[in-house]
This record gives sequence, C-alpha cells and structure tokens, in this order.
Amino acid sequence: MIKTLIYTTTFFIGSSLFATDAQTLIKENGCFACHALASKKSAPAFKGVAMRNKRFNGSNAKASIMNSIKNGSEGKYRHFIGAKMPAFSNLTQADLTTLADYILSQGSKGGSCGHGGGMGMRRGGM
Ligand code: HEC
Repeated sequence: MIKTLIYTTTFFIGSSLFATDAQTLIKENGCFACHALASKKSAPAFKGVAMRNKRFNGSNAKASIMNSIKNGSEGKYRHFIGAKMPAFSNLTQADLTTLADYILSQGSKGGSCGHGGGMGMRRGGM
C-alpha cells in the first residue's frame, strides 16, 4: 500500500520533471537573455526559428537546430545580422534533443503561418 503510494508519487514527479526539462535547460543556460518564445528580442523568437527551419530544412530541421545551439550561428536571420548565437558546446546530445524538440514545438502553436495539417492535427478515421 505504501509502496504503491510512493510509486505513484514518483511517477507524477517524474512526468512533471520531464515536461519542464526544456524550460529548465533554457533557464539554466540563459537562452531567454536573448530569445523569447514568440516575440523578437535581440534574437529570433523560438517560434520563428521553428518555422524557418521547418521550411528550409524539412526533415533536417531538428539536426540543424541542434547543430546551431551546439556550435553557434550567425547570418541566418536578416533582422539579426551582426548578432551572434553563441556556441553551447557544454550541452549533451540529450539536452540538444530536448531543446530542439521544444523549439520545434513552438512552431506548431497557433499563429497564422499554417502550412496545413501540422503535427497533432490528426483527422483521420471516418
Ligand atoms: C547572446 C544572445 C543569445 C543567447 C544567450 C542565445 N542565443 Fe540563440 N540565437 C542568438 C542569435 C543572435 C541568433 C540568430 C543567429 C543567426 O542569425 O544565424 C540565434 C539563433 C538561434 C537558433 C536558430 C539557429 C538556426 O539554425 O536556425 C536557435 C535554435 C537558438 N538560437 C537557440 C538557442 C538556445 C537553445 C539558447 C540557450 C541554450 C540560445 N539560443 C541562447 C542569440 C542568442
């Protein structure tokens, strides 16, 4: 009985940790000093990053984003010419994956830039 309780609790804590993982990484690494989720700061919004990478890099979007975080980037976003994305070579491959997934997920939230039938819009089964 107690065992079950502990088990359940761990499960809940575990799953909420998972959900905030990307946000924790973003906080710990100070990404929001330059970036915002959906508005321009001194760096492109993650939402715009997601849309740009999906459009230009297709199925390589994730790998490309991971590479930019790890090695830095400059010159890709016109409005930010002269600004540089610093390299975060301290991040592990798992961190990079988490961040890239999170950033890409921002591109499918709301907004008017639909490319039709994004992920999560499953409509089959008549
Ligand atoms: C010092 C400011 C600064 C910080 C801190 C920063 N960025 Fe950036 N980031 C930029 C700028 C500027 C660009 C635009 C680079 C360009 O034009 O190629 C950018 C671009 C990006 C891109 C798009 C690259 C691409 O290939 O499309 C991603 C993804 C990104 N940042 C993620 C992050 C993450 C994740 C963090 C935290 C770990 C972070 N950034 C921290 C300034 C910053």
